[in-house]
Amino acid sequence: MADKEHTDPERMEKIVSLCKRKGFIYQSAELYGGLNGCWDYGPLGVEMKRNLKDYWWRRHVQEREDIVGLDGSILTHQAVLTASGHVGGFSDPMCDCLLSKARLRADQIDPQSGTAYHYSGASEGEWKLEREFSVLLQEGQNENKARKTARQYYAQFHPNKSLSPKSIELTGETTSEEENTTRYNPENGSLLTEAREFNLMFKTQMGASSNEDDPNAVAYLRPETAQSIFTQYKNVLDTFRMKIPFGIAQIGKAFRNEINPRNYTFRSREFEQMEIEYFCRPEDGMRLTDEWLETRLTFYEEIGLPREKLHVLDVPDGERAHYSKKTYDIEFDFPFGCQELEGVAYRTDYDLSKHQECAGKPLEYFDETSKEKFIPHVVEPSAGCDRTILALLCEAYDEEEVPDAKGNTEIRKVMRLNPRIAPIKAAIFPLLKKNEDHVRIAREIENDLKSHMNVFYDETGAVGRRYRRQDEAGTPFCITVDFETLGEEDASLKDTVTLRHRDSMEQERVAISELLPRLLREIR
Ligand code: GAP
Repeated sequence: MADKEHTDPERMEKIVSLCKRKGFIYQSAELYGGLNGCWDYGPLGVEMKRNLKDYWWRRHVQEREDIVGLDGSILTHQAVLTASGHVGGFSDPMCDCLLSKARLRADQIDPQSGTAYHYSGASEGEWKLEREFSVLLQEGQNENKARKTARQYYAQFHPNKSLSPKSIELTGETTSEEENTTRYNPENGSLLTEAREFNLMFKTQMGASSNEDDPNAVAYLRPETAQSIFTQYKNVLDTFRMKIPFGIAQIGKAFRNEINPRNYTFRSREFEQMEIEYFCRPEDGMRLTDEWLETRLTFYEEIGLPREKLHVLDVPDGERAHYSKKTYDIEFDFPFGCQELEGVAYRTDYDLSKHQECAGKPLEYFDETSKEKFIPHVVEPSAGCDRTILALLCEAYDEEEVPDAKGNTEIRKVMRLNPRIAPIKAAIFPLLKKNEDHVRIAREIENDLKSHMNVFYDETGAVGRRYRRQDEAGTPFCITVDFETLGEEDASLKDTVTLRHRDSMEQERVAISELLPRLLREIR
């Protein structure tokens, strides 16, 4: 049984640092101090993301007859998101720390117990303020800490901004014992504001003549890719003559103004989803939800996430989204704990019924065999592309002790990425960059391979160092052109190269003519 509470912050720090150093992920606008909750994928990250999306698309769209694709617009009509319930209800409870002004998700604050110190106000010379404030002290903390925190709070309102909080007198101190309260900031003990609902959608204005007061100009950046699938479902049905059960798949950006973006890319404000809305008869909804769960678990295994690190949470009644009759969360053991990777939800006929009602246009399906008309039910496997990339990076990171060229022990950092997902499939090295034959043959191999896969040519430094660089990039194969390739000492080795395997570090001789078919088999 996995330990769902286990965290490993040190490992996470190493992964974040490697991702930046090797060009997987950078913070957005780092040059200007960073844009919170937004990330840029570097040269390796973008290749990896493309590989993931391509493989998802291939498995779920191209290799199936019952699913077709869609690429909907990101800017979304407000009526669509009003009908879906996002305008009225897509919100998180949020509260602010009265002292630091930090904004917290009210439902993510761990309950605390201790003694609360309450104050009715403060004074300093002629200056007086009547305003209630409280501080929570954990057991064993000194009461002076509560007073210090309260003075800092009241000092914010003093006209003299350079006044030392120490000169402030507190008034009306009382205390109370608190059990499992979530009203105080766990970081500093300060009282929080009451929780308020905060809509997570990014709102924008459309059109050149738009102004802030024009309600007709309002549009939203989509908070999920699903809604354009629902609103285009009838067009796809009519133009493609799909027969139920069938699905529409989409990969694309979604935006949520998350209150606390955190855990690296895990909770971002801009992210990509890979979603399928699978339309079916009402009586098949539950069964297909179970089937989709298995399909998606298999997919994660195929890209390199081991089954024992994937956990299925059958989301209990009362905790599911308003539209769902059944939801499985697929969770993964990240270094920051076991967290959601994907939701497989049975959305019933909720969305299509709402759009039919709000748009006033029929969205029923006509079953030619039974001559029935009905609103299809929907099963939705909804995966996060960025979260999957993060899970793959976390799973791949490894350190091991190996002997270096002088026989001493060194630590090898290696990204054990599945070859299907690895950003660079093969690195090609001439043993000596000054040897014209080595360089010429290595360049020829690069040319042969590069129209089939992403490869990388490197001639700088000792071969051992070049291997280490590729280990950190997650490159599964390295190809070295050496003296044997020229067949000078052993004619039987002419036109062969060293093929080095990242994980085992084993090396073998392979004929140049065999390289392409061999690598294609390994990376598919
Ligand atoms: N259409 C259903 C839907 O959007 P969701 O559980 O809100 O359901 C689905 O999102 C998936 O999208 C999540 O399991 C997660 O992988 C990804 N996701 C959601 N919010 C995210 C965020 N703020 N940052 C990164 N990924 C996110």
